[in-house]
Amino acid sequence: MNTKVIVFDAYGTLFDVNSAAEKCKNKIGDKWEVFANFWRTTQLEYTWLRSLMKRHKDFWQVTEDSLDKSMKVFNIEKSMKTELLNLYKVLSPFQEVKEVLKILKKKKLKLAILSNGTPDLLNELVTSNKLDNLFDDLFSIEQVKVYKPHSKVYDLPVNKYKVKPREITFLSANTWDVSGGGNYGYNSIWVNRNNSQFDNLDYKPKNEIDNLSQLLDIIET
Ligand code: LAC
Repeated sequence: MNTKVIVFDAYGTLFDVNSAAEKCKNKIGDKWEVFANFWRTTQLEYTWLRSLMKRHKDFWQVTEDSLDKSMKVFNIEKSMKTELLNLYKVLSPFQEVKEVLKILKKKKLKLAILSNGTPDLLNELVTSNKLDNLFDDLFSIEQVKVYKPHSKVYDLPVNKYKVKPREITFLSANTWDVSGGGNYGYNSIWVNRNNSQFDNLDYKPKNEIDNLSQLLDIIET
C-alpha cells in the first residue's frame, strides 16, 4: 500500500458513541440503545444542516442540542442531562483500539484523528483513555468551521503533511464519511462494526473490515 498517513475518524470509529447511554442503562431502561441511536442520528443531521445553512455551532453545542431533543422524544428525566453529557466527554474506545495504535506507531507512518469534535473534546477523549502519546495530530473541523463531508475538512491532513490524498488511508465506521473521504481521493476503508450496508454515494471502499485489528494485515500488503 502506498500509504504515508493513517487518519482515523473519532466518533463511532475509535470511540463508542453509545457508551455514554449504555453506562446509564439502569436509569434509562431498555430503550437506552434506541435512544442512543436517535441521539447520534440527530446530532449528525444537525451537523449537515448547520453546514448547509451556514450557521455553524461547534460539536459540543450540537451534541447538547441534539440531546435536548432526544431526551424529549424518549421522555428521559431532565436530571440525566448533565450525566449523559459528562459521559460523552470520556467515551470508551473500542476494545482493540489501543493495541492496534501501539503497533502502528512503531511503523513509519503518521497517525492522526480527523473529526467533527472540537479540539478540547478530542484532547479529552484521547487523554482520558491514555491514547494521547499515540497520535501525531488531532485535526478538528473547528479549523475550517464546516462539518464533514465538506472537502475543506479532508484538506486538513493533506495540507499539513504535504501528501497526495491517495497517500492517506482513512478509516471510518460511518459509511457517509467513508464515501466523503473516498470521493475526495483518500484510500477510505470502512470499519463495518455493526454488520450494516454500505451507501450509494459514488464510492465503494476497496477494503471493508470488522474492526481495526484487520487494518494491520492490509497495511502489510
Ligand atoms: C467524527 C464523526 C463523524 O468524529 O464521527 O467526525
